[in-house]
Amino acid sequence: MKKKILILAGDGIGPEVMNEVKKIILWFNKNKKTDFDITEELAGGISYDKHGTPLTDSVLNLALQSDAVLLGAVGGPKWDKLEFSKKPERALLRLRKDLKLFANLRPAICFKELSSASTLKPEIVSDLDIMIIRELTGGIYFGEPRGVSKLPDGSRKGVNTHVYTSDEIRRVAITAFELARKRKNKVTSCEKSNVMEAGLLWREEVEELHKTKFKDVELNHMLADNCAMQLVRYPKQFDVILTDNLFGDMLSDEAGMLTGSLGMLPSASLSERDKNGKVKAMYEPIHGTAPDIAGKNIANPLASILSFSMALRYSFDMPSEATMLDDAVREVLKDGYRTQDIMEKDRKKVSTSEMGNLVIQKLH
Ligand code: IPM
Ligand code: MG
Repeated sequence: MKKKILILAGDGIGPEVMNEVKKIILWFNKNKKTDFDITEELAGGISYDKHGTPLTDSVLNLALQSDAVLLGAVGGPKWDKLEFSKKPERALLRLRKDLKLFANLRPAICFKELSSASTLKPEIVSDLDIMIIRELTGGIYFGEPRGVSKLPDGSRKGVNTHVYTSDEIRRVAITAFELARKRKNKVTSCEKSNVMEAGLLWREEVEELHKTKFKDVELNHMLADNCAMQLVRYPKQFDVILTDNLFGDMLSDEAGMLTGSLGMLPSASLSERDKNGKVKAMYEPIHGTAPDIAGKNIANPLASILSFSMALRYSFDMPSEATMLDDAVREVLKDGYRTQDIMEKDRKKVSTSEMGNLVIQKLH
């Protein structure tokens, strides 16, 4: 059966890193007899430049019909002044919303080979393995009312709304509990129940779900500000962190940096299963478009490559192939090859395309 992959390379370093992913996909087709069928389309600033919108309806439809979407990155200073609805980031938000990708999985894994690249002491981060589950289609990112209005005295008022229903909280909490069962069986749920009603609701719903369906999983609640602090104090206390859209945005950047390089971190965004058991999904590196190094063939493609490995695991039910790809990345690092962002003394510096080729050599 053909497996439909839509690649949206996007802006900045997106096209360069996705190019390496394409090479890997084609390697699988050739050597593992997979039948991945790649379509490439525009999203983000590059789509705005061509079509006047960051995501056309036809690309959205392609995404809805694909088995997996692989996204590079969107955005850049060139489009900073556009109104909100035209900004490159809207492409991302619309894909998340319309594909109903409510569960965002953001692993923060510190490869032993890179533990000295972290700003934290190696013993604090070495072998770190955290999974952040960020709610992705609700909360303040999408809540209504929103906008900026003029007040009678001529001053202006900006409004965004943080809102969650119990169903939205429960479905993402289920993802977190189920994932924890396959890991170290521990969930830390983070909110601000001390100041926000919606935060208290979050805590109560997670608590109730735990009591009725997931008693076997260890559950802790933590205020989000404390979680931010605990992440740099003693990150290995965490297994799965469950949190809302905005806190998840911030905590996942923080957790990402613990590992030494954002350039290494993949992510998966998943929908509910439909009646045929199929999940819609989008995979993307956590890093952004890095416009300062775009087009120089020096960006780190490993986060995108590892995102494809998540696709093998979560969309294509190919866990052994996913592990094989993860291992290939690890081996390349063990051999001392580094892109500039993770370069250290006595290592061998390689370009984006060389890094992709090295991973393919290891696969072989
Ligand atoms: C992320 C990014 C996005 C977000 C931006 C680019 C809209 O920061 O995926 O973490 O805020 O969700
Ligand atoms: Mg972010």
